Amino acid sequence: MLEQLKNLQIAAKNEFLKIKDAGSLEQIRVKYLGRKGLISQLMKTIASLPPEEKPLIGKKANECKRVIEYFLEERLSQLKQKSTKNKKEKIDLTLPAFPFLTGHKHPITLVLEETYQIFAGLGFEIAEGPEIEKDFYNFEALNIPKDHPARDMHDTFYISKEILLRTHTSPVQIRTMEKTHPPIRIIAPGKVYRRDADVTHTPMFHQVEGLLVDTSASFSELKGILTAFVHQMFDPQTRLRFRPSYFPFTEPSAEIDISCVMCRGEGCRVCSNTGWLEILGAGMVHPEVFRAVDYDSEKYIGFAFGMGMERIAMLKYGIGDIRLFFENDLRFLTQF
Ligand code: PHE
Repeated sequence: MLEQLKNLQIAAKNEFLKIKDAGSLEQIRVKYLGRKGLISQLMKTIASLPPEEKPLIGKKANECKRVIEYFLEERLSQLKQKSTKNKKEKIDLTLPAFPFLTGHKHPITLVLEETYQIFAGLGFEIAEGPEIEKDFYNFEALNIPKDHPARDMHDTFYISKEILLRTHTSPVQIRTMEKTHPPIRIIAPGKVYRRDADVTHTPMFHQVEGLLVDTSASFSELKGILTAFVHQMFDPQTRLRFRPSYFPFTEPSAEIDISCVMCRGEGCRVCSNTGWLEILGAGMVHPEVFRAVDYDSEKYIGFAFGMGMERIAMLKYGIGDIRLFFENDLRFLTQF
């Protein structure tokens, strides 16, 4: 009898191990542990044993039952683990990879970088100045005294009577001349601020200033440098037009137009049918500006220019509304 129990145990263990799925395991469970199973049958024969053997055999039979139950549980959890593991490790190599979105450079960054590149090729270094500026640098030293009508052109954000948000990058001209000595050949990119907002104006925008000071410099050099810039930024067919203009810090002064990049000068909506687009202000450095930084205006001569980068980017990429640059709409930004 004891022998039989042992064999039953071994047989059950082997059968459980062979099972590959929980369904067939149930069949084996019934075979051994069911109400009419092998264990039950064996238990029934205990009744016919001699009384002195009954307790021991009964105990062993119960043990045998518990061991088989244990095998069953064990095998069941093994099978469960296996099936979840199989699911996890199943990799479908034919599935397309996760789309990996890379960042985009902002169109203003793109035109700024191209501008640095072009002017680096012409021998210009980059200079910078603060956005929160003193009245002195933004106006006074640039020959725009307190009561000067040109201040009206600037729609200034004042922080206090003497401190303001710079309205242009021209104060960097003064800061650079104070810090260094000629020859000077710099461009000064940066943010500027004006109280203005519509399709072509935002309260903050970007300018690039240029300044060249040396013992000799001429208006024709200025023309040459700006022509080289425009031809590289747009295309070599672009024509330039220098119109006499007025800035307090340059004399003579000019505003520079380029032939319309949309219609090539034929006349269209973008150029208001004139065939021309204004993109730059420029001129020869005013002797009063040299005086403000203690330069001898008999010894030194120079020219300066300034332009708005949003305008350049709008023309280069055909963008109709300046506000698109600041809305951070990815549908717009990812086009560049
Ligand atoms: N600072 C001028 C402006 O913002 C542009 C300019 C710069 C003109 C340098 C002449 C020389 O309109």
